[in-house]
Amino acid sequence: MRNFGTRYGSFSRDGTEYIITTPETPRPWINVISNGDYGFTVSQTGGGYSWRTHAQLNRLTRWEQDLVKDEWGKFLYIRDEKENLWSAGWKPVCGTPESYRCRHGVGYTAIESKNFGIETVLLMFVPNDAPLEVWRLTLRNRSRRTRTLNLYTYLEWGLGQAPDWHREFHKSFAETAYDAASHAVYATKRLWEVPTDRGHWNTGWPYVAFHSSSLRPSSFDTDRESFLGRYGGVAHPAGVRMKKLKRRSGNWLDPCASLHHTLVLKPGESTEIVYTLGCAASKPEAAELAARFAAPGEADRALEDVAVRWRSLLETVHVATPDPSMDLMENIWLKYQAISGRMWGRTAYYQTGGAYGFRDQLQDSQLWLSIDPELAKRQLLLHARHQFDDGTVYHWWHPISEVGLRNRISDNLLWLPYVMNGYIQETADFTVLDCREPFVDNASGATMYDHCVRAVESALGRFSARGLPLIGEGDWNDGLSAVGLDMKGESVWLGHFLHRILLDFSAIAARRGDASRAGLFTSRAAALRESLNTHAWDGRYYYGATKDSGEKLGSSSDTEGSVWLNPQTWAVIGGVADLSRARAVFDVVEKELEFEIGPLLLHPAYTTPDRFIGYLTRYSPGMRENGGVYTHGATWAVIAAAILGRGESAHRIYSKLNPVNRGKKPDVYCAEPYVTAGNIEGPESPFYGRGGWTWYTGSAAWLYRVGLEWILGVRATFDGLIVDPCIPAAWKGYTVRRLFRGAEYRITVRNPSHVECGVQEFSVDGGGMAKTAGTRYASLPVFPAGSAHEIVIVMGGV
Ligand code: GLC
Repeated sequence: MRNFGTRYGSFSRDGTEYIITTPETPRPWINVISNGDYGFTVSQTGGGYSWRTHAQLNRLTRWEQDLVKDEWGKFLYIRDEKENLWSAGWKPVCGTPESYRCRHGVGYTAIESKNFGIETVLLMFVPNDAPLEVWRLTLRNRSRRTRTLNLYTYLEWGLGQAPDWHREFHKSFAETAYDAASHAVYATKRLWEVPTDRGHWNTGWPYVAFHSSSLRPSSFDTDRESFLGRYGGVAHPAGVRMKKLKRRSGNWLDPCASLHHTLVLKPGESTEIVYTLGCAASKPEAAELAARFAAPGEADRALEDVAVRWRSLLETVHVATPDPSMDLMENIWLKYQAISGRMWGRTAYYQTGGAYGFRDQLQDSQLWLSIDPELAKRQLLLHARHQFDDGTVYHWWHPISEVGLRNRISDNLLWLPYVMNGYIQETADFTVLDCREPFVDNASGATMYDHCVRAVESALGRFSARGLPLIGEGDWNDGLSAVGLDMKGESVWLGHFLHRILLDFSAIAARRGDASRAGLFTSRAAALRESLNTHAWDGRYYYGATKDSGEKLGSSSDTEGSVWLNPQTWAVIGGVADLSRARAVFDVVEKELEFEIGPLLLHPAYTTPDRFIGYLTRYSPGMRENGGVYTHGATWAVIAAAILGRGESAHRIYSKLNPVNRGKKPDVYCAEPYVTAGNIEGPESPFYGRGGWTWYTGSAAWLYRVGLEWILGVRATFDGLIVDPCIPAAWKGYTVRRLFRGAEYRITVRNPSHVECGVQEFSVDGGGMAKTAGTRYASLPVFPAGSAHEIVIVMGGV
């Protein structure tokens, strides 16, 4: 495995770690570590924050967004007998370590450093089954003399929510205590900023936070003022110079937690101390958890369990292609990012998040389809419960408080039938359509089939007189927030998207025996296709939208934003464009939108805010939706290329979006090379090529999916798996191993004639199979669960 090294780091040999070799990366390079409930972020400096269930509403430790300083974290100071002071991460002391490595792994991060002859390894992870994080600190004396080391942990309590600008208010409700028996400090809070039936500001935080250690502390403090010192700071706090901390606890403090230990290490000697930081339901539970992880060997066992869980999640699909950077992404990092970062954590440095986006987590949950489709189903049911009786949905909602935002963004509701179709293609589980779920405003609810149908019919009810869907407060592109406020403006992308859903869902309706709906959806699809091709065609490509005034956007008559990406890619994906138009619009994508960094969401960027378009035009030119590469949307270009059989294009675009490749110029790209960026700045930005908003929604699950399903072509259909390779002609072949409906498919694709797509012949377990006439792909049968099969596919002229 190539390790793609730069001056900041490289992948480990097996690709499961990214090893950063200096704390001074161009931006914080973080890990998002979660077990699905509890989680924390950690950067290569040691910065980061912790939460349970919701990273914003239920933040355990204080953090304020500052990617320049990266100064908020949970820190560990070490002072030796000569008064040398350093930290186990680089922050906050920022010393000059003799060596430094931060290894971000799948489910853990380890920071290894050596300072003044003392080696430390601080390994942090979240056990599968406990609401806490473990920090296992190993210290080794590499010097020739006996050393006396004082260790001080430090973190500031958030206890629900405690934004910095409201610190004096929030601290008035917190209470801390020390318990010598469990070597732990505890913290509670008598106020939580969530609305209840007894009013705002009027409920307690129903948890007990704790911070404990396996060794008995020599002292502790929970008061920031005494620990930091008046007007002191985290780099050189007063506490770490004291023989003993002040042992303050109770109410009335600005609450923090610090445990102090004194250790003596002979030359060559090493020792280990295990800390926990957690969020329990009660004090007894917290004490029990503290005791559990103080027991020798428990942290190591829990870490092994984490590795086993991640292996089983990641191993369900495995690919081996001539492109090692693609293998790294498909086999490990995209899955890890989508699960840990998006499904579980829903948080990272660029957006604290914590909520569920109606469309966001549905799209992200597509990741589960090839790994554990039951979890995709659960997500579908959860989102159905956040739909209203009239078919419309929340744009987002907060777990815990259930507060949601209902708006007139027009695509949200359609992701329910879209992802439902994907789930049924994967599983053939039509019974999901009979599951009943309530609506937000109607407890008696309806079947999932009805939930989906209501979404489609609600969308069909919002059309302009000439038969195009209304954009409302935006379509997938949130930044088009003012295009259709008067409910007159139209969205072309939404038309393409809806067309796809009408076709897919009419097939589901037909299989369910609902012939009238199947008929209705097919005829509405035909009418929509006609309207799009008549009214949304700009001459060379599809324009993007019309404003309430009727003015066209994303049209060649515009000087800014004159060509948009999604209306072209989805004309192909949605099946709206015929072959010649599909080819023509894709040529436009390649010639006018595709840059060195990937296809831009639109071009040229808007330079002047337009209050009749929305906040998209207010972004600096080239940033985010305003003319940058928006990874989530850009991945769809790979699908369009594959549909057209353009293997070179599909893989080239994938490669441009692949963070491993972007990260080859780390001082330009700046962002982490192991996870996708939400966006990369476009040509109008002086920082052209700079990545940002890493670990963001949409990007990882989609990039994974387009790689596996559209380049490698392994796609689920109601009737079985198909293999439809669409690859660079230079590739000699590749393999994919995946589970499908319980059976293992070991697929080998050969490309002896060096074509970009097209299957010539294939065999299953050595027996030649007949290709379905008129297709370019291989249709594989559904095998009994538990069986394993060898499939050999030979590409060639068809
Ligand atoms: C952000 C939003 C997502 C939206 C996209 C494009 O990623 O979370 O819902 O589709 O931006 O505006």
